[in-house]
Amino acid sequence: MKLLFINGVNLNMTGIREKGVYGEQTLEQINAEIAAHFKNDECEFFQSNSEGEICSALQNAKCDGIILNAGAFTHYSYAIRDAITSISIPVVEVHMSNVHAREEFRHTSVISEVCKGVIAGFGKYSYILAGESFKL
Ligand code: DQA
Repeated sequence: MKLLFINGVNLNMTGIREKGVYGEQTLEQINAEIAAHFKNDECEFFQSNSEGEICSALQNAKCDGIILNAGAFTHYSYAIRDAITSISIPVVEVHMSNVHAREEFRHTSVISEVCKGVIAGFGKYSYILAGESFKL
């Protein structure tokens, strides 16, 4: 199975910003653990702070499943929502933190409705749980 892990805006700061929320590991370290977990699958990783680049990554994806942590784009990007509905590959929305236990603006996702499912609150394991969901 080929899985594409997409991380959006500010996720490159993981391990540097708000360590109490997102943990001490960098995105590179987390991605290495994800790749080790899915050692019998093909994993591709992409991160961008640009909304348009996330849309292009979704449009150009060639894989069986996409795991998307859009970061703050989750809460307002109709462009990313439209990119998800433009493709036939299923997308699972992921958040490391439990967005529903945080500020009010994080309770809204404009992409959940067009995603296969949503996983939030399990730190780096949110990505692994989302990847595993494609095997159910
Ligand atoms: C996040 C939650 C978002 O609200 C936030 O803007 C992020 C990270 C998470 O992984 O918990 O950048 O998507």
